Amino acid sequence: MNDQAYRVAVIPGDGIGPEVIEAALLVLQASGVPFSFQHYEAGDDCLDQRGVALPQPTLEGARAAQAVLFGAVGNTAAEVILRLRQELGTFVNLRPSKAFKGVDCLYPLTNITVVRENTECLYAGIEDELVPGVVTATRVISREASVRIARFAFEYAQQNGVGKVTAIHKSNVLRKSDGLWLRCCREVAEAFPDVTYEEQLVDSAAMLLVTQPQRFELLLTTNLFGDILSDLIAGLIGGLGLCPSANLGEEHALFEPVHGSAPDIAGQGKANPTAALLCATMLLRHFKQPQQALRVERALEQAIAAGQTTQDLGGTLSTMAMAEAVVNGMDG
Ligand code: NAI
Ligand code: MG
Repeated sequence: MNDQAYRVAVIPGDGIGPEVIEAALLVLQASGVPFSFQHYEAGDDCLDQRGVALPQPTLEGARAAQAVLFGAVGNTAAEVILRLRQELGTFVNLRPSKAFKGVDCLYPLTNITVVRENTECLYAGIEDELVPGVVTATRVISREASVRIARFAFEYAQQNGVGKVTAIHKSNVLRKSDGLWLRCCREVAEAFPDVTYEEQLVDSAAMLLVTQPQRFELLLTTNLFGDILSDLIAGLIGGLGLCPSANLGEEHALFEPVHGSAPDIAGQGKANPTAALLCATMLLRHFKQPQQALRVERALEQAIAAGQTTQDLGGTLSTMAMAEAVVNGMDG
């Protein structure tokens, strides 16, 4: 093993997870950047075979690595990916969605990044059955987590030439929790006078995202709203096969496509590898390899523009054939 190699824990998971991860690994290897990949099990199949969805060696491997590349899991998503995000302290879920030339989609000019709080809100996992037939779920919003994610969003905006941050909320109904959320966002916004700050109710934001997506550059959201709106934005640019995400914390980084295990197309070579390939570019940037990330992005853009795609984008290629087309384009 190369001592200088970046140590990446690879968790392919279920369904199309292993298929798109194989594609991402092909492209990462073609980048020439030295990596050492350690593979780990997790997910529904792992639960069936070993009785646990997230085995201890997987958790330890993820903790020990310099970054994690994650595919997707099925019904065990809460036990696996939510737990990994919590265990690794990745408080940011960063989801950039940019339309590609050549993809027939609702809004070809869309370029929106969602910065989603990743540790609390309704995903804190606090559910109770008060009496049979009545169940509660607790929405946790804390000052510490809200300020931390808002600061990340504004710093990201500054560093990436993003002019406007829109905080998403429902403070007219969730007065206390989203009241606190907005106070934190406003406080942080004041420290970044060069970035425009605005607020939008989540329901009207959903409507505006469909009718005028060009209004938005970066959405700053709590956990649940960010989960829902980022899939909506994926729909604007041509589907879930195109959207990557990064889970970032002080010490750890985990990269995963936004999509799930897609059981309807699993095992058929139909999965679009683009989201996973964009995860690979985010991972390359994480390791300060922007030139290599750009090389992959350009080759991916060329492949898509030339119709060298999977069926969801109108092409005829399999997952791996599309990844190979991208690798060929990297030499061009
Ligand atoms: P999904 O993202 O797996 O699929 C939704 C639709 O998009 C399906 O029609 C699928 O074929 C299509 N699609 C997704 N990725 C694609 C790709 N790369 N190329 C082409 N088409 C693609 O979401 P769904 O169906 O709601 O959930 C399926 C399973 O995935 C569930 O068990 C769910 O819990 C899990 N899931 C896991 C996630 C994770 O591991 N982070 C995230 C979301 C869902
Ligand atoms: Mg989701």
